Amino acid sequence: MEVEIKPKKFPKGFLWGSATSAYQVEGGNKNSDWEHWKVKAGRACDHYHRFEEDFDLAQSLNQNAHRFSIEWARIEPEKGEFDEQEVEHYRKVIKALRQRGIRPLVTLHHFTNPLWVAERGGWENPSTVGHFESYVRYIVTQLADLCDFWITINEPYIILSAGYLWGNWPPEKRNPLAAFKAEKNLMRAHRGAYQIIHTIQPKARVGIAHSLASIRLPLRTWYSSFWERAIVDRAGPQDFIGVNYYRSTSPITFKPFGFRSLPRSDTGWEIYPEGLYRILHDLKKFNLPIYITENGIADAKDEKRANFISDHLVSVWRALHPPSPRLRGDELRSLDEVAQEGVDVKGYFYWSLLDNFEWAWGFGPRFGLIEVDYETMKRTIRSSAQIYARIAEKNTLE
Ligand code: FCB
Repeated sequence: MEVEIKPKKFPKGFLWGSATSAYQVEGGNKNSDWEHWKVKAGRACDHYHRFEEDFDLAQSLNQNAHRFSIEWARIEPEKGEFDEQEVEHYRKVIKALRQRGIRPLVTLHHFTNPLWVAERGGWENPSTVGHFESYVRYIVTQLADLCDFWITINEPYIILSAGYLWGNWPPEKRNPLAAFKAEKNLMRAHRGAYQIIHTIQPKARVGIAHSLASIRLPLRTWYSSFWERAIVDRAGPQDFIGVNYYRSTSPITFKPFGFRSLPRSDTGWEIYPEGLYRILHDLKKFNLPIYITENGIADAKDEKRANFISDHLVSVWRALHPPSPRLRGDELRSLDEVAQEGVDVKGYFYWSLLDNFEWAWGFGPRFGLIEVDYETMKRTIRSSAQIYARIAEKNTLE
């Protein structure tokens, strides 16, 4: 009889964290392209002034890692003009994390561009690649003594589809040719940044956060292994794979009899933890460490979040452990040894630490482990956050 390991223990050193991005939480990002668009973050969560309080909460929730982003528009508000005070701000942010025993994972580009970049044609313009590279060279040099764990670009294919194909984000294009050009430049920007960071910090770990969803078709669950592999391959050099996974999608609206409908989040996204398992399994072929760089649910009433987190962590745990008939009775080996044979998942970052500005949706969706009252800026820990905190504390899923 197959022996299931109970409770489900995670390998030593597993990262338990949450993620945010600068524009979505900081507030006051006046030089960002989004701040000049029809839906803006404005004051957001005022995290720019409250990061210490927010990191105290993350620490109280037993998180040992945090993913956040640097706002390019703050660091380089005008072409070639770098703002040392803003560098100092992010140095304080990283130090505040480290003082609390929280490991920083820093994203260098999370959707927004400085206005001056957008006005010069954004990602469609090949010179944006060089501009991005000089920003990366500058900021990584400034922060190299504090951090060596980087994400160059968050979800390049979401930037392309939302901004250049469906036109529902800035720069509101619906133009496959523009998307094609922007894709080329985003990929070049990643590859350039990867080399630059490694020249500054040979031991740095550098990756991309890829948006991966599982695709379901009527009468059969199928997933997009071809697509996933293609986009991870296409990006070129990566020291790890960042996986942002939220849901399954179905490209077909007609659902015949027999199509199992799934529960949904407040944003209407289908909840499908099994999809994460399949994706992780499929990414094993790259033989790279994997971090779940985002996984979360919009759930204002906090009714589904705790199960959402634990069900997705079950998928992570299953991926870590190969489905092995060899795991019988006294043949049980150390968990770390077993984990090496499965998929090498090294951490999980829940999206998000805080309720925040959800792009074209504005402030409607509530993804936070911590509720934010946007009038008073009061933070309230949700009960699902306590459940995640218990899992992180014990390193175990019961
Ligand atoms: C991802 C984004 C992140 C957040 C979540 C809900 O695509 O990377 O900023 O908005 O979706």
